[in-house]
Amino acid sequence: MLISVIGAGYLGATHAACLAADGHQVVGIDIDTHRVERLSSGQAPFHEPGLDELIAGSVESGTLVFDTDVRRAAEAEVHFLCVGTPQRAGSHAADLSALDDAVGSLAALLRRPCLVVGKSTVPVGTARTLGARLRERAPAGREVEVAWNPEFLREGHAVQDSLHPDRLVFGVGSDEADQVLRDVYARAINEGTPVVRTDLETAELAKVSANIMLASRISLVNLLAEVCEAAQADVGDLTRILGLDDRIGARFLRPGVGFGGGCLAKDTRAFVARAEELGLGGPASVLREVDAINMRQRSRTVDRAVALLGGRAAGRRVAVLGAAFKAGSDDVRDSPALDVAATLHARGAEVHVYDAEAAMNVRRVHPQLHVEASVDDACRGAEVVLVLTEWEEFRGIDPVALAGVVASPRVVDGRLVLDPDKWRASGWDFQALGRGTA
Ligand SMILES: NC(=O)c1ccc[n+]([C@@H]2O[C@H](COP(=O)([O-])OP(=O)(O)OC[C@H]3O[C@@H](n4cnc5c(N)ncnc54)[C@H](O)[C@@H]3O)[C@@H](O)[C@H]2O)c1
Repeated sequence: MLISVIGAGYLGATHAACLAADGHQVVGIDIDTHRVERLSSGQAPFHEPGLDELIAGSVESGTLVFDTDVRRAAEAEVHFLCVGTPQRAGSHAADLSALDDAVGSLAALLRRPCLVVGKSTVPVGTARTLGARLRERAPAGREVEVAWNPEFLREGHAVQDSLHPDRLVFGVGSDEADQVLRDVYARAINEGTPVVRTDLETAELAKVSANIMLASRISLVNLLAEVCEAAQADVGDLTRILGLDDRIGARFLRPGVGFGGGCLAKDTRAFVARAEELGLGGPASVLREVDAINMRQRSRTVDRAVALLGGRAAGRRVAVLGAAFKAGSDDVRDSPALDVAATLHARGAEVHVYDAEAAMNVRRVHPQLHVEASVDDACRGAEVVLVLTEWEEFRGIDPVALAGVVASPRVVDGRLVLDPDKWRASGWDFQALGRGTA
């Protein structure tokens, strides 16, 4: 099939590459010239395991092309909308301006019957409004149909998740639209991926609901961690006990510095904003606490570090290991690690950050921080070390060797990736959120 993907960011670039790998002819459109140049040269504009190879192969064979000119998408049978829907400035609601612009420029080009499929995460009700607008403005009129096909990929596993999704959700208004999506995803469906066919509104809600469930779970476990600390209980044992209950399960039960990235926080806030519009602000306010508990993890981490420094950060050298919002990605959008690093810097500390993948993004977003090339470089002369992204590399740090590099062996494990016994036995003052100060 000839398919266009509008918006070539973390979601769109991956989706375009995976559609091309499945044998479709794909044109990716983005307004960011630099991004399009990079993609056209066969390179991913960000770190995502396996994506470079996938893009390079399809760009070389000509099945995947990128352009800034949306007219290049005009002939496609299916158009996927993958532009960003960030938090609106000065509000908790989603900013749909990129989606409005994308739909606005696409509409005038639609002269033949086609399916426009939303993949961006949007407030419930958006798809129906967009559909009406498209049909009104497109020369093809009622021959243009809108569907919603939310994306559940996880950054750091984006290629794997796109090629082998655990479910496909088709929000459609007709059998024809359902069939088109089945053709697009034929390989994954033949592989056994379950498809849930539903209406537009349920499909829109599917993604944001998944994110608020995950966000709530993380904040709940962080609440438990804080209670454990206050009551001198052990959150490691507690989460193990909870995880053995198969109604609860063991995944996503790790306390720490909290969630970040381009999705969980903004989707939680946008859900509350939309619930308020629907007259459900009262019950949705539980999610404000989820957000507040999450943000509190960052200030608690800063407080821990400052306490270890004897109550004063000014002029002290601090090492921050990890900058990406999660391991496997170089994405620093709303990264708890970087937030903590920047706060410590604002309090006068000299902050040295190391992240093997996200260094360039740190320099772009926080040029005031020192970006280092290795764990040792970041930790040299440090009076406290903070581990804030769960990179595998940090699990393997030898505490004995690192004790010889730092000025004072003090560490805050914000992701529970280090072995407390081993670090303490090597002479470190070891602290972790939820684990008390023993
Ligand atoms: N990142 C994820 O893991 C993920 C997962 C599932 C869903 N989503 C959702 O997908 C959407 C995109 O997220 P993202 O992380 O890829 O964002 P992103 O910021 O990485 O990418 C968005 C891209 O859209 C481009 N763009 C903006 N306006 C445009 C226009 N008018 N025409 C063409 N391109 C335009 C931007 O230049 C940018 O490259 C969001 O709604 C997000 O919530 C993201």
